[in-house]
Amino acid sequence: MKVTIADVKKYESKEVTIGAWLSNKRSSGKIAFLQLRDGTGFMQGVVAKNDVEEEVFQLAKNMTQESSLYVTGKIVEDKRSPLGYEMQVSSIELIHEATDYPITPKEHGTEFLMDHRHLWIRSKKQHAVLKIRNEIIRSTYQFFNDNGYVKIDPPILTGSSAEGTTELFHTKYFDEEAYLSQSGQLYMEAAAMAFGKVFSFGPTFRAEKSKTRRHLIEFWMIEPEMAFVDHEESLVIQEQYVSFVVQSVLENCKMELDVLERDTSKLEQVKAPFPRISYDDAIHLLKDKGFTDIEWGEDFGAPHETAIAESFDKPVFITNYPAEIKAFYMKPVPGRPEVVLCADLIAPEGYGEIIGGSERIDDLELMKQRYEEHNLTGEAYEWYLELRKYGSVPHSGFGLGLERTVAWLSGVDHVRETIPFPRLLNRLYP
Ligand code: 4AD
Ligand code: MG
Repeated sequence: MKVTIADVKKYESKEVTIGAWLSNKRSSGKIAFLQLRDGTGFMQGVVAKNDVEEEVFQLAKNMTQESSLYVTGKIVEDKRSPLGYEMQVSSIELIHEATDYPITPKEHGTEFLMDHRHLWIRSKKQHAVLKIRNEIIRSTYQFFNDNGYVKIDPPILTGSSAEGTTELFHTKYFDEEAYLSQSGQLYMEAAAMAFGKVFSFGPTFRAEKSKTRRHLIEFWMIEPEMAFVDHEESLVIQEQYVSFVVQSVLENCKMELDVLERDTSKLEQVKAPFPRISYDDAIHLLKDKGFTDIEWGEDFGAPHETAIAESFDKPVFITNYPAEIKAFYMKPVPGRPEVVLCADLIAPEGYGEIIGGSERIDDLELMKQRYEEHNLTGEAYEWYLELRKYGSVPHSGFGLGLERTVAWLSGVDHVRETIPFPRLLNRLYP
């Protein structure tokens, strides 16, 4: 019977066949240990010279890394392996012999590994990171589906910009000019007026000339948008959502977190509610911590965010930033128009901003005023104004950056390892 490694626990002491690749191998005169992987997991196959035909033992001994095979044998308990089982191999059918696989068990430099990303994703650590990514996506759908949200897909090709025009990818759209979406938000606002509570999950693009461990050119964002929900209520949804995702990963990715040697004690504390600190207070906190240069009105950089996060043992919301340094659509704080009803959620352990969100301006006149201030002219933005014309309601939303969340939960220090095929400032290959 053909089974997968993820399922072998159901076949203890039974003979099964697994389609696999050889990820590593060790052998002596009488025994060969095959490290097998099949995509669903990693397992050891033991080939004993005395128990198999000579031909099978020779095949096992000489097999090259990443060759593909059907391997048949009995599943037995093995308490030392993370899987808990291994296979006593009885026969092997070689499917394809790999020659000179470039990623050997020795250490390789980052650029070399990045050039071989199409192969690197087969390795244990990369596999674990991408499985955690998958669990974040799965639990995201679960959370929003269970809470009455409708999944809406905003367009990728668009004529409007949500987050400022400096970081847009331009493309030709027949005779018009178009951009690749920086954020689906404006469309999600339209969707919230049609469906109440909505969320999106899709790729977004930023032509950012930033070469940091937190920036990708193409990244994936989860963008919920809720009608009749104010800023405070949105923060509660955000902390519940993030807690749910973190607890799901802890629950369902034990083996992966183990492979990554992630210290999970810090993640276990990530349960709602999360602390909140205003931008004003964050400035004071930073000055107290020795950042004497920072002035009210300036945006925070990575060192500032890390310093603020260090004061808390959970993710922290920094609320009410100056309007000047935030997007045009954010609603002013009543009685204090120089700051807006927004929050960035900063992950612990130096992983930085994982969510940006806000209550949106719902007043037509104020939105028109913002259009003038931000020079948002032309018909690309007309539809967005109409949302404030026909039954405008208070509404809020946010965007969670998937890759930064994967980096945080996996404990990897660069976002290039959190997406299957990263697009970076100097990388479009593979
Ligand atoms: O803070 P941002 O720019 O917010 C928005 O785009 C809003 N329109 C979202 C909304 O309210 N619907 O981006 C949201 C998140 C950030 O907090 C960060 O986690 C991630 O997206 N992000 C990036 N991740 C990787 N690489 C980049 N270049 C990123 N830029 C933003
Ligand atoms: Mg932001």
